[in-house]
Formats: sequence, structure tokens, C-alpha cells
Amino acid sequence: MKLFLDTANLQQIQKAKDWGILDGVTTNPSLIAKEGVRDFHGHIRRICEIVRGPVSAEVIALDTEGMLKEARELSKIHEDVVVKIPVTPAGIQAVGVLSKENIHTNVTLVFSAGQALLAMKAGATYISPFLGRVDDIGWESMDLLEDLLTIIDAYGFDAEIIAASVRHAKHVVEAARMGCHIATIPFQVLEALFHHPQTDNGIDRFIKDWNQLQDRLRKEG
Ligand code: G3P
Repeated sequence: MKLFLDTANLQQIQKAKDWGILDGVTTNPSLIAKEGVRDFHGHIRRICEIVRGPVSAEVIALDTEGMLKEARELSKIHEDVVVKIPVTPAGIQAVGVLSKENIHTNVTLVFSAGQALLAMKAGATYISPFLGRVDDIGWESMDLLEDLLTIIDAYGFDAEIIAASVRHAKHVVEAARMGCHIATIPFQVLEALFHHPQTDNGIDRFIKDWNQLQDRLRKEG
């Protein structure tokens, strides 16, 4: 399973890169706004230079022509840029055109298997079901994910599914158990994947025992 960070924060991206487990990054307009980014293209370029893997940058236009114009500009920033496009009729039309131009796309704000099927048919490179937001409205995010993976397998579509809007480690693990291609996760969730109280207790105990042995050996001369 590939792990992407869902952030536009350069320090977080650098840290995950240093840990050696970062495969890509996804951003959206809210994450860009959170970082107070003034130079959008420059910021995406800096992310690409750190990550060396797919980096999703979202279009703002809502009409096909506007989306295509933004997408072509975004794709010129760096070869790793993936253009994120919402799953609307205008968006799906744009994805179809971009896939013929070999511009990679990430169809976003997906909440149903029907929407995902349209994105697959249009030639999307990635499809992002919003797990956390599906759970927020009382639906079952894992049922949605299972439907998407079943449809992809049934027809051999090329798209990869990105488990997005991930809120906790369990989302990541359940997505992995289902064989989901990618999870894009906030930095806090990535940190949470590392932690277990018994690991911390175990390290404390090992260090304590080691130090006691060293003390004893010193005293024994
Ligand atoms: O990747 C999509 C993500 O940024 C949305 O997450 O937590 O705002 O629902 P969230």
C-alpha cells in the first residue's frame, strides 16, 4: 500500500520523507489556505522537489474549459503533478480530455460507487473516496471502499483508489486490509500509526534494565 500525506505543510512533508515511508502528497484548497500559501505554483513545485512522487494539486474552476486551462498549467509545474478535479459532469468531461493528453488526474469528493464508476470510465488515474466525511453523514465508508475495489477488479480499470479524508489509524488499517492501493493521511494520523503504549513501556523497560546492568558491572569493577 502506498502512503501519501494529506497536507501542504512543508515541514511535515520533509519529516515523512526523512522517515522513508512517503510515496506522495495530496493537497486541496483548504489545506493550501491553512498554510497561508501566496505562490500556489511555487509551493506545489517545492512539495514535488521534496516528495519525488505524485503530488495532487486541485483546480478551482467549475467549468470544463476553466478546469482544462488550470490543469494544463498545473501539469507544467513538475512531472509529478497530478491534477485534482471534483466529480461533477464538467470535471468528468475534463478528466476524459486530460487522460488523452497523458495528464494524470485525481478525481476528488467521491461519495458513491456511481461517481467512482464515472471517474474510472473517464480514465482517471486516481479516485479519492472521502471516508471520514462519509462516516460523518452516517454512512459506512468501508462499504463504499469495498464497492470501488470490487468494480475496479471486475473490469480491470487502471485507476488507483486513494482512501482520503482519513481521520484515524483504523481507517488506514481497514483500507490496507481490503487491498486499497493508497491512503492519504494527515500528519497526526501518520504519527499515530507509530504509537502504541506497550511499545513505549517496552522501550522504558529495556533501557532501565540495560542501565541497571551497566551500574552493576561498574560497581563489580
Ligand atoms: O484528501 C481529502 C481530505 O483533505 C479531506 O479531509 O478531513 O477535510 O474530510 P477532511
